Amino acid sequence: MEKITLHDKTFRPFIPSARIEEAIDKVADEVNRDFEGGETVPMVLCVLNGAIMFTAELLKRLKFNCELVSIKLSSYQGTHSTGTVLNLLGLTGDVRGRTVIICEDIVDTGNTIIALRDMLLDKGACDVRICTMLMKPDVYDKPVKLDYVGIEIPNAFIVGYGLDYNELGRNYRDIYVLDE
Ligand code: IMP
Repeated sequence: MEKITLHDKTFRPFIPSARIEEAIDKVADEVNRDFEGGETVPMVLCVLNGAIMFTAELLKRLKFNCELVSIKLSSYQGTHSTGTVLNLLGLTGDVRGRTVIICEDIVDTGNTIIALRDMLLDKGACDVRICTMLMKPDVYDKPVKLDYVGIEIPNAFIVGYGLDYNELGRNYRDIYVLDE
């Protein structure tokens, strides 16, 4: 694996795709354990655009009936969380009385995911689970437990596998870290 350049920054290989897929297998096992054979038909909520790849891979592994919905939010500009969460593209389904499994690419401060969770509960969802491919435990400071976590990473800025730096880098199958 070689370094990549996106806009003005260089990134070096960090997590190979095989390791990411292993983590998704593990997460899928945990989600299946909770929902397989149950009565509930959960809504899998893809947080656009970053979680597209993760959600697709996770969906292929789920062994129970579920629906797919999406939403677009944003709290990131450049390489630092801005703390503001914008609801840019409304939710594509009615969550009233439903179990929702939020699929996120990465949880950093947790501002985004917790605001989204609260919004879903506000809209009447009866159970909201948080499922994230990656998380930064050194930065996450919310009292809410993350239900399903793929890989924990140190506090660094990464791209690839859906994650971007100012919209570039989402297409790479491996994950790269900012080379400082
Ligand atoms: P939070 O609200 O601080 O948890 O930030 C979560 C959102 O910021 C994620 O959905 C990502 O879109 C973005 N984000 C957080 N960390 C990174 C990163 O290392 N690279 C790219 N995007 C990130």
